[in-house]
Amino acid sequence: MEKLFRQAADILARSQRLVVFSGAGVSKESGIATFREAQDALWGRYDPHQLATLQGFRRNPKLVWEWYEHRFGLLGDVTPNPGHLAIAALERYVPHVVVITQNIDNLHRAAGSSDVVELHGNWRFYRCLGGHKGFTRADFADQTDIPPQCPRCGDMLRPDVVWFGEMLPPEALERAFAESAACDAMLVVGTSGLVQPAASLPTYARRAGSPIIEVNPNRSAITPLADVFLQGPAGEMLPRVMNELATIMGEERTASPISPVLRSQ
Ligand code: OAD
Repeated sequence: MEKLFRQAADILARSQRLVVFSGAGVSKESGIATFREAQDALWGRYDPHQLATLQGFRRNPKLVWEWYEHRFGLLGDVTPNPGHLAIAALERYVPHVVVITQNIDNLHRAAGSSDVVELHGNWRFYRCLGGHKGFTRADFADQTDIPPQCPRCGDMLRPDVVWFGEMLPPEALERAFAESAACDAMLVVGTSGLVQPAASLPTYARRAGSPIIEVNPNRSAITPLADVFLQGPAGEMLPRVMNELATIMGEERTASPISPVLRSQ
């Protein structure tokens, strides 16, 4: 395993343009359930057709709104874990780092990553069915309707996250493909690699001849593409890679090389 940490750190030390591609697994150690693991997976306990589609929302807006309120209430209490912090700390060593995430939990930003592309939206924002965007909770704090109404047109508000059957935000997707095709290394963390189009990003890096490091306790659809597979939880694997990277870059090895500079969420 030591050898694999070294190989991963070598790749990162050489990188000038790194893409970190993350999924639900990176947030698991912050206490957020993943979607499709055998135990406790969200989509094992709840029906995504009812709760994560526009049709489900139109059918029962109150139910869907309240489910997200419950989930977001839980998200409001979570903080970044050592995996998120290690990813943010990569910016000390690699000139260009972009984090492309399928997560809506805001934890990469909270950990200090400065360039985050959110493919599936961000739970802190809301939009209306009429197309107005960019609302936060403060915009409907005085309303009692469930769901609240759009302050601009009165249509129903919904979380600004991507539901099944919906398009990903075009600018985010375009940037994700462009960055993946132009990167010189990709670090894939905590995704099953089963949901398209995001799951094809590592193929773009591969085609560009860029090495791929994967961190996951389980093999995924991306593992066959990985040059270095670090089998274990992100919160344990990534700090160890950062230790190696710090050594290569000439810094003194410390027990905890990552200073947890948390930004307010
Ligand atoms: P999944 O639930 O499909 O996969 C989570 C991955 O994280 C699995 O491969 C786990 O083995 C891995 N994992 C578990 N614990 C981990 C840990 N501590 N460290 C690192 N990895 C760990 O989640 P995603 O791949 O993110 O979409 O799912 C993709 C999309 O499907 C989600 O964004 C969501 C979902 O439906 C939408 O909501 C649009």
